[in-house]
Amino acid sequence: MEPCEYPHIEDQLAPVLGRHGGDPTRLLQILRDVQDCFHFIPPEAIDCIASHLNLSRAEVEGVAGFYSFLSLIPQGEYRLLFSDNITDNMLGKPELMQYFCNKLWVEPGKVSEDNLVSVDSTSCTGMCDQGPAALVNGWPLTNLDNNRLDLIAELIRIRKPVAEWPEMLFEVRDNIRRPGMLLGDLFVPGAGLRAMLARGAEATLREVDAANLRGRGGAGFKTASKWSFCHAAIAEEEGSMICDVGGNPERFIVCNADEGEPGTFKDRVLLSSHADMVFEGMTVGARVIGARKGFLYLRGEYRYLLKPLEAVLARRRADGLLGENILDETGFAFDIEIHLGAGAYICGEESALIESLEGKRGRPRNRPPFPVTKGYLGRPTVVDNVETFACAARIAEKGGAWFAAMGTAQSTGTKILSISGDCARPGIYEYPFGVTVEEVLRDCGAEDAHAVQVSGPSGTLVSWQEFGRRIAFEDLPTAGAFMVFHRKREMFAAAHNFTHFFAHESCGFCTPCRVGTQLQKRIMDKIAGGHGTPADLEELKHVGHILGTMSHCGLGHTAANPVLVTLKKFPGTFERKLKALSFEPAFDLDGALQTARNITGRDDEWAHLI
Ligand SMILES: Cc1cc2nc3c(=O)[nH]c(=O)nc-3n(C[C@H](O)[C@H](O)[C@H](O)COP(=O)(O)O)c2cc1C
Ligand code: SF4
Repeated sequence: MEPCEYPHIEDQLAPVLGRHGGDPTRLLQILRDVQDCFHFIPPEAIDCIASHLNLSRAEVEGVAGFYSFLSLIPQGEYRLLFSDNITDNMLGKPELMQYFCNKLWVEPGKVSEDNLVSVDSTSCTGMCDQGPAALVNGWPLTNLDNNRLDLIAELIRIRKPVAEWPEMLFEVRDNIRRPGMLLGDLFVPGAGLRAMLARGAEATLREVDAANLRGRGGAGFKTASKWSFCHAAIAEEEGSMICDVGGNPERFIVCNADEGEPGTFKDRVLLSSHADMVFEGMTVGARVIGARKGFLYLRGEYRYLLKPLEAVLARRRADGLLGENILDETGFAFDIEIHLGAGAYICGEESALIESLEGKRGRPRNRPPFPVTKGYLGRPTVVDNVETFACAARIAEKGGAWFAAMGTAQSTGTKILSISGDCARPGIYEYPFGVTVEEVLRDCGAEDAHAVQVSGPSGTLVSWQEFGRRIAFEDLPTAGAFMVFHRKREMFAAAHNFTHFFAHESCGFCTPCRVGTQLQKRIMDKIAGGHGTPADLEELKHVGHILGTMSHCGLGHTAANPVLVTLKKFPGTFERKLKALSFEPAFDLDGALQTARNITGRDDEWAHLI
């Protein structure tokens, strides 16, 4: 038997395993801690964890291999991941990353020879308003330029622990440029809960209904209906219920703070400066459906928010806004636990998120059953977006009519936009629904814009002819991303970047998406390399059709949007890259004949295809 490389691994793992207990739902959290400890997940640790949690080795390895922030092979002591969103690229990310690699003698995607540093790209880190951004051992680095990278390289060379690096490197600003009823008004913690207790839980649900609140995570489902379905699912089960320690049937409230859609960072700001409002909305929802337990699923990229969020939770417990007998209401008990993700966009999809919360790979479930009937641990679960819960807190406080007076008939209230790209004032803007793209562009100082990617790669591209369109569920629905492109930009580059994003983030569970996203990426690479032909455009449309109609979940359904919409609205950006030929194979035919030429000893003009 090979000698164990980490002979004392059990001793080293003991505090981690002790902290999390023997609950398999803690697997992802345990793996995160192990990654921090060893800079990868050593094989010996997998065995230890498996026996501690009573899982098979394959189950633990399967989870460790799924999340991009976990690694089964050693990474550098300092792991730098550059944000690869198109807006970071527009700000010079590729050149900066190369500059940094040259400085430290490391190749992108590899570990330096002394195991000191590894450098790679990662999907959007949610700091597009202060990019180029990166993560070092999970901590955010913003506004990168050559000077900052020189400093970072020096800190790494002298092996300064990341915790001792200058604070200015880690500053993440809110950049709130246009506050509204969520970001502008003073919210007194407890105001929503007191109003709800005075009015009653059922009456509060009616207020949420009257407000016509629709989910802010993208799909725009009516929040009151979701909460009612969950309530109904519990009522239907009466009699055959799994009960918690208090004798209540179990059900859960989950706040989706995965915010992985490239170009979106408004939940980051809500959580860093308005966490009370979000937690209060979760507590209102808990009272309505009768949940005693809630989770905040926080994307790994926002791990720096974990401590401050834990502090807000502790304060709320001390103030009687969480815990047993909330605000002295006998039997009103609710608490919130934070789970960290580990770099997987698919975990924003609610059923994948629930799998991840259970400590598994983030693989989307078959639906139905929907989470409201069978969610976390098979129990009725409400999953809502961060902004949705913030809205619910305000509605509980001020009433449905107050909320419904803002926005449009089908899209009430406000929408927070995360604005980045070619504009003078990137950041966070809150508008009543119904604002036009043109008005937004004017406010953020975008001159000569010719396109906006609304709602990220899975959303749509709006061309300059459509700038009169409105941000609203009835026209341009959005989860919040608003990426601006100047007329000098080739829109092909954005579509190309998004195809890489989807190929990287496909969870691989279903064939149309696993293969389709790779094919799409390769064809776009071929076109970008100057080898594209009209036949490739037809192939892109064909692959796009398969992705859109045959994939298992929303990721696959929308993965072809950037290519198909850009092809339709900006055909010139593709045509300019095409060869005049009607077809060129994706592989080098002439090169493939080299072996035959070597064998025959022929290398004359007739032994070549070209
Ligand atoms: C691939 C994919 C990624 C998603 N990512 C997020 C996300 O990061 N945050 C979010 O709130 N919803 C996300 N959603 C939508 C969720 O599945 C779900 O609809 C949402 O959390 C419901 O909350 P809401 O009703 O408040 O919008 C995603 C959906 C898909 C298909
Ligand atoms: S569509 Fe893509 S992300 Fe969704 S289940 Fe299939 S492979 Fe996974």
